[in-house]
Order: sequence, then structure tokens, then C-alpha cells
Amino acid sequence: MPSRLVNDHYGCRSWTCVDNRLEYAAELDFEHTGPPDRATNAGVRHEDSWNYVDGRFEEVATTLTGPFDVIYSSAVLEHVGELSICLDQMRRLLAPGGAMFHAVGPVWSGPSGHHVYPSYFRRHGANAGLQVVAALGPWMHLLKTPEQMLAHLTDIVGAPLARDAVESIYRSPRLSRRIFPEYIAAFESAGLQVAWIRKWRKSARTADARRALRALRATGVDSANYRFDTFWAVLVRR
Ligand SMILES: C[S@@+](CC[C@H](N)C(=O)[O-])C[C@H]1O[C@@H](n2cnc3c(N)ncnc32)[C@H](O)[C@@H]1O
Repeated sequence: MPSRLVNDHYGCRSWTCVDNRLEYAAELDFEHTGPPDRATNAGVRHEDSWNYVDGRFEEVATTLTGPFDVIYSSAVLEHVGELSICLDQMRRLLAPGGAMFHAVGPVWSGPSGHHVYPSYFRRHGANAGLQVVAALGPWMHLLKTPEQMLAHLTDIVGAPLARDAVESIYRSPRLSRRIFPEYIAAFESAGLQVAWIRKWRKSARTADARRALRALRATGVDSANYRFDTFWAVLVRR
């Protein structure tokens, strides 16, 4: 969130960003980008009103005093390991009458829950991520056991890359692997009320996806929880 958006456009008096950026970028083998930009279009830098804390929110939140009128996250909660600590801290930091807005990709239950992108696994070559993505079908990470996935990927991309991909898909701590009802339960037990929610679905349009969804349903899961990729929720204190 650059300061030209939060300070200039939205007129926030102050903004504190917490991002576990360095660890996240290192794990994904990404080129590091610089910290977010505090400069406005006019070249003014918001040194005081735009704060940046690097680290896991659940660890650094205790250093924050708040209170904050708004707490916002986008595509973060699905990466947080200690979700209940995180939500407890957010509730503590929320000003009376304040609200949270979270955009959450319950990635694991979605068709692309493998969460592999073409830029991944560069240590295996420039196209390694792309090769793995191409070998993965909708909900394949749930329809195959890790052992079956390893065999499938080994045939296509070779053993070393397949081993790394399986580790990343099933075991890497960068993804929380919660499904939708678990987020709702976590909100409830943190004393947060869902004031508004919307689900966004882009999946299950292709024949492949429909077939995979039928196979998933046959395993006994409630497929209604698996058919969307993102939800947006506004949370308030109970
Ligand atoms: C998918 S990216 C989303 C980035 C950005 N919010 C956006 O919408 O484009 C996930 C982000 O969550 C951050 N993240 C993951 N776990 C975190 C944690 N425990 N505390 C704070 N940030 C975390 C990562 O550093 C990364 O920037």
C-alpha cells in the first residue's frame, strides 16, 4: 500500500504496514523488491505517518499499541501459521467501533491449492515453476496423496524438482492449508463477528475442473466449501 494511496488518496492520518516480506521472499526464491514506497506523487515522503514493520504479525503485533480504526489485509491470512494469535492481537489493536477488512484466499481448498507459480523453484532452472504448474490439474493436490503426487511429478519433471514441489505443496509453512469453515471458526473464537462476507469464485468452469470436483465430492467432502478462491470479510468486535 504506497503512501500515495493510503495517505494521499484515502486521507489516512497514519498507516502502519506489517509484512513478513524478507522471510516470504526468501522462501519463494523471489528476487527481493525494496520496501514499499513512502513517497507521494509530489515527492513528499511520509516518514511519520507511514510506518513499516518487517516480521510476522503474530510476533511483532505486541510491539504495536494502536488503536487502529481499520485493520486491512489482502492475501495474507492464508499464509499466517498462528492465525488465532494474529486475530487476538488484531482484536486488541482495533479501536472501539473500528472494523477489519480481510481479503482471504482459502487457497488450499481451491482448485489451485498447490499454490505453485511459474516463478517458483528457479534453482531448478528458469522454467521449473512453469513445468510444475503445467503438470498440476484442478484440485490435484487434494485428490492425490503426497506420495502419488511425487510419482506423478517425477514422471514429468524429474525427481529433484518433484521432491521440492511436493515439499512446497504439502509441507511448506508458507501456506496455512485451512479451509473456509476453519477461518470462520477462528474469527468466532477470537471474539470477532462477521459483519459482511462475500465469496468469489473463478473455478469449476472447465470440464477438467468439474470432473475433479465430482471426484472430490466422492471423497465425502462438502464441495460447497471448495468451489471458491477468495472471500472478503468485514469483521467487528463482538
Ligand atoms: C500473497 S502475498 C500478498 C501481498 C499483498 N498484501 C497483496 O495483496 O498483493 C502474502 C503476503 O503476506 C505476508 N505474510 C505472510 N505471513 C505473514 C505473517 N505471519 N505476518 C505478516 N505478513 C505475512 C508475506 O510477506 C506477503 O507479503
